[in-house]
Amino acid sequence: MKITAGLMAIAMLTATQATTAIAQNTGADIYKAKCQSCHGAEGTPNPGIAKMMGVKPASDPAVKSVSETQMVADTTNGKGKMPPFKGKLTDAQIKASVDYFRSLAR
Ligand code: HEC
Repeated sequence: MKITAGLMAIAMLTATQATTAIAQNTGADIYKAKCQSCHGAEGTPNPGIAKMMGVKPASDPAVKSVSETQMVADTTNGKGKMPPFKGKLTDAQIKASVDYFRSLAR
């Protein structure tokens, strides 16, 4: 009984912490912290970075044609000169920042 209660407490604590972390880490916050340096605040990289790294604007047809699933996979595993974010961000954080990036593609 004692062990069960302890595990319950740990499970509840973990659940609470996960909720807090997500609440403080909106897609916009993660994007600003981890993606903006290459992709630009509005989803358009500055010309120097665009040329040097091969980053296209979020609104580029070639980028817009990529599915959300594919973008999440590319951000997780890296693509071209984009580093992999696996282990640096959680799956939920990667998805949130990708969704924010996609919202910039207007
Ligand atoms: C160090 C620079 C850098 C950072 C930081 C960076 N990216 Fe990228 N990103 C790139 C480059 C370069 C490409 C183009 C890759 C290619 O097609 O060769 C790219 C392409 C993409 C694409 C294009 C679509 C695709 O899948 O083909 C998405 C989506 C994307 N990045 C999302 C993100 C997100 C979300 C973050 C933050 C978590 C991020 N990137 C951080 C450099 C970066």
